[in-house]
Formats: sequence, C-alpha cells, structure tokens
Amino acid sequence: MSESAQSAPPVTFPPAFLWGAATSAYQIEGAVREDGRTPSIWDTFSHTPGKTADGETGDIAVDHFHRYREDVAMMAELGLNAYRFSISWPRVQPTGRGPAVQRGLDFYRRLVDELLAHGIRPAITLYHWDLPQELEDAGGWPERDTAYRFAEYAQIVGEALGDRVEQWITLNEPWCSAFLGYGSGVHAPGRTDAAASLRAAHHLNLAHGLGASALRSVMPARNAVTVSLNPSVVRTVSQDPADLAAGQKIDDLANGVFHGPMLHGAYPETLLAATSSVTDWSHVRDGDLETIHQPLDALGLNYYAPTLVSAADEQASGPRPDGHGASAYSPWPGADDVAFHQTPGERTEMGWTIDPTGLHELLMRYTREAPGLPLYVTENGAAYDDKPDPDGRVHDPERIAYLHGHLSAVRRAITDGADVRGYFLWSLMDNFEWAYGYGKRFGAVYVDYTTLERTPKSSAHWYSRAARTGELPPLED
Ligand code: FCB
Repeated sequence: MSESAQSAPPVTFPPAFLWGAATSAYQIEGAVREDGRTPSIWDTFSHTPGKTADGETGDIAVDHFHRYREDVAMMAELGLNAYRFSISWPRVQPTGRGPAVQRGLDFYRRLVDELLAHGIRPAITLYHWDLPQELEDAGGWPERDTAYRFAEYAQIVGEALGDRVEQWITLNEPWCSAFLGYGSGVHAPGRTDAAASLRAAHHLNLAHGLGASALRSVMPARNAVTVSLNPSVVRTVSQDPADLAAGQKIDDLANGVFHGPMLHGAYPETLLAATSSVTDWSHVRDGDLETIHQPLDALGLNYYAPTLVSAADEQASGPRPDGHGASAYSPWPGADDVAFHQTPGERTEMGWTIDPTGLHELLMRYTREAPGLPLYVTENGAAYDDKPDPDGRVHDPERIAYLHGHLSAVRRAITDGADVRGYFLWSLMDNFEWAYGYGKRFGAVYVDYTTLERTPKSSAHWYSRAARTGELPPLED
C-alpha cells in the first residue's frame, strides 16, 4: 500500500448508501429458447457471422436463468444490499406485442422473491438492448410505433412486479441503442444509417416518457422511476474556439440529445443546427417533448472513461473511442469535423482510460442539470484479463484500485453536494460483453466458461467489506 493511501483518512459512506452490482439479461441469462422466449436483435446479431468476437453468442451466457438461486445466495454472502438486472423483453412478450407470457414473467417473479428473501433490493431495467426481433423487422427504434410497444411492455412488467420492486429504470444507455445500433452498427441490429440513428434516439426518448407514465399508472406511488444514461464526460485538447465547438457538438450528441428532452423538455438548439444536414427532425411531433419531460424520481448514471476531442484538423492520437468496437461508420451524426483522442493515463483491458476525476465531474454536472434529483451510479467497473492462480483464487488488484479510485470520487462528489444514493458495480460476474464476446471480464466474480463455476475475485471480497462496513478498505491487505 502506498504511504498516501495508508495515511489518508477513511473514506466512509452514508448509512443508507446502496452497495449494488449490475447485470443485464442477454449478458447472463442464456436459456434463449426456454418458456416461449423468441429471438431479440442480439440473438440475431450475435448469430450473424463477423458481428461478435469469435462468433460468440448469449445462447448459454453464464446460465443465470438456471442458476439464479446460487447467484442470489452469492450476492447475499458478499453483503450486497441492491442488485440491478434487466428484463428480457422477448421472454415476457415474445413478439413485442399483445399479452404477456406468464412463464416468462414467472422467472422474474422467482428472482425478485429470492432477492427480497435475502434482503437485497431489486432495481429493474426494462430495456437493456434486447429488442424483440419482430419489432426490428417492423422497423425497430427508427419507427415511432416501437415507443408505444415499449410502453405496453413497461405496463405489463410494472403490473407484474410493481408491488415488490421499488426501483425502476426505463432504458439503459439509449445512446448505445441509437448510435451504436443504427449509426456505427457495432451493436445490434447493426444498421449504419445516420438519419435512422437520430430517429431512434428520439423514439427511445419517447419510449422513456411513455414508459415512465405507463409504469406510474400501474404501480404504487412510492416506487421510483429513473433512466440510466451514459453521458460522455467531454474534454477538449485546448480552449481554442474550434476545439470548444467540437466539444459542444459531442456533448450535444452524447448528452443533450437525451438529457435535453428528459430533464429540460427540449433538444439543444446547437444539436438541431449541427445535425440539420442529416435530419430535419420532422419525426418530432407536437406533444412529444412534454411526454418525454416526465418528472423523474432519480437519475442513473453509467461511467467508464472520459472522452477527449478536438477539431478534426488536429491529428487524432489514437483509435476512435467509440466505446464498444470499431466501425467504418461513425456513431456521431454530423460530427465529421470532430477528432477523437486517446486520453492519457493507464487503461483497462477495454483500452478505456482510468480516470476517476471524470466520475466526480459527471456527478457534479448532473447535480447542476437536475437540481434536487437523487443520483445513482448505475454502472462503473473495469475489464481485466483475470486468470485463476494454481490454487484456484483470482487476484485482481487492478480492479480493486479501480473501484477504490472511483468510489472515492463518488464520496468526494457527495461531500461537494451531489446527492448520490448508491453505486452498482459493473458487473456482478464475468459475462457476454456484447461485440467482444466472453473475452472481456468485467466481473467481481470470475466465471469459468467451461464449468460455469463462479469464484469471487479478490475485488469481490474487497467490495464486500466496503458494503458491510460502509467504508472503503485499504488497497491491499
Ligand atoms: C455498458 C453496458 C453494459 C456493459 C458495460 C461494460 O455500456 O451498459 O452492458 O457492456 O458497458
């Protein structure tokens, strides 16, 4: 342990702080053909040659569908008091329309009951990227109807679980759904159409608004409705006006495009101007902005690394950090005049720079954007090339350092006035990392992909001590 860490005062959290972990359905469940589930866009995409590393799919994933009891027991043993997971839309409503499949809902009823029996608060994400394929065949998110279908689905799940689950997240990272799914095409459904990506963004916003009202119409008033955004912490290489303009453009395309309508009831004027060659925004109908501008009970923020940009005439110094894979197509419509740079500093196995100051900055920014709204870090974590030692243990000191740094940043933000109520580590266990397949391990728990055996890494034990004591343990024992 470094001297500074040893002499630093203990980092302690408020008693009611939630110490959680997060996962999503397609990344962990497997059982893709059980109980009437039909393919989602991620089943189709991952089964399309060339779309994921080594053609890997979520067919089995980590078999959580059959092992959920073991997984909940493991969380309880680790002392976690919250768990964020997502519902697989095609498990509950296979065609994306019409009545629910009760057997599909039953899985989530059992999971929620198991969590509650172990004193773990469930937080449900309704949409973590697995659109029923039939809805994509009908046009997907660029089509307005998909937002209405989402609201119907939200109501079904709200009716089934609203009595037992208090925390509800409509969408996970709509930026990825819109711009990686329909812009750069590195995510399902793999389309590369800039105009379609902006229509998708609006219809995801609309889905959030309609979905939030649908949930509220069927759930007890005490329940909290939120959304999980992944805002970019945008930095510029200089204060030069051209670089600042590039920064503004990416801030609009990454952040304002969602928080504008959701928190302020309008798209930023600068966004509309910057994208005018791509779309005339005529897909935004009267009343949509009011629908999207729903009062929220909290805001979920996912953070991994900051983004560094400049005007495009400067030499970009690294691969374009598109987040989840490379493509010849840009996920940033109308931003061909922006260059992306690798931020300095150490990186994780994803190539993402480790920079906890970005998390502090993000929490302070949304304290200003949404005054009075409780904040949750709904994802934060790191991939490393973890391997078991000969004795079977998995030592991951880098992940402990990452968590220590980022949780300390959360604590600093609380001190500085941010109302942060909880932290959900991404991820509970190693899982299917989208286009990267199983090659990137984000888990606090190691999964042996041959036996599917789970082994808590040393970071899980470290995090467990933090969760039990409300205080960050030192970096090394
Ligand atoms: C986020 C996703 C999550 C996982 C992490 C690493 O963008 O929400 O499913 O892939 O990145």
